[in-house]
Amino acid sequence: MIDDVEHILISEQEIQQRVQELAGQIEADYAGKDLLMVGLLKGAVTFMVDLARAMDRPVAVDFMAVSSYGASTESSGVVRFLKDLDESIEGKHVLVIEDIVDSGLTLQYILEILRQRKPASLRVCVLLDKKERRQVDIPMHYVGFTVPDAFVVGYGLDFDQIYRNLPFVGVLKPEIYESTLPDASSSAEAG
Ligand code: PRP
Repeated sequence: MIDDVEHILISEQEIQQRVQELAGQIEADYAGKDLLMVGLLKGAVTFMVDLARAMDRPVAVDFMAVSSYGASTESSGVVRFLKDLDESIEGKHVLVIEDIVDSGLTLQYILEILRQRKPASLRVCVLLDKKERRQVDIPMHYVGFTVPDAFVVGYGLDFDQIYRNLPFVGVLKPEIYESTLPDASSSAEAG
């Protein structure tokens, strides 16, 4: 698996250090309030679990799963619901956890749905911000790292469901995705 990685973009140590920092910020910001972390399956799971474990306070967790219609390397903004939350979020302090924001279309859709459910507050914590590819403005309160427009995998992010369990974030070798996705060379979304 590691042989398919061109280079490591963010090391395991850098990720863990940043997770600790973010957890500290979140703990301080939500002091005295209940906190519900909503993870977007599947990419956010690794980040969310590490983040929650880095906090010395009660944290409730729930999950949503959506899937983008259309070409596999481009977010179309048309989203299919695969799994909804188990519990109501009305009156709760909700922190959405995401592994990567690319076009922003997935998160825009999710946030609109969650807003309609009247949470007490709604914020976003994202590990990787691929700013260059943003199509819509997304309010992001906690950001781990800004990353270039490269095909990144690891620490939850996949290509073809592989590489999620790498402990670092790396750039995939082009030959891995070019053979599978002929249109992928100009678009560097993974995760
Ligand atoms: C990835 C990622 C975000 C979305 C970002 O999910 O986890 O949800 O794409 O892209 P966008 O900002 O352009 O909408 P993916 O569909 O790969 O699912 P996964 O989390 O199961 O890997």
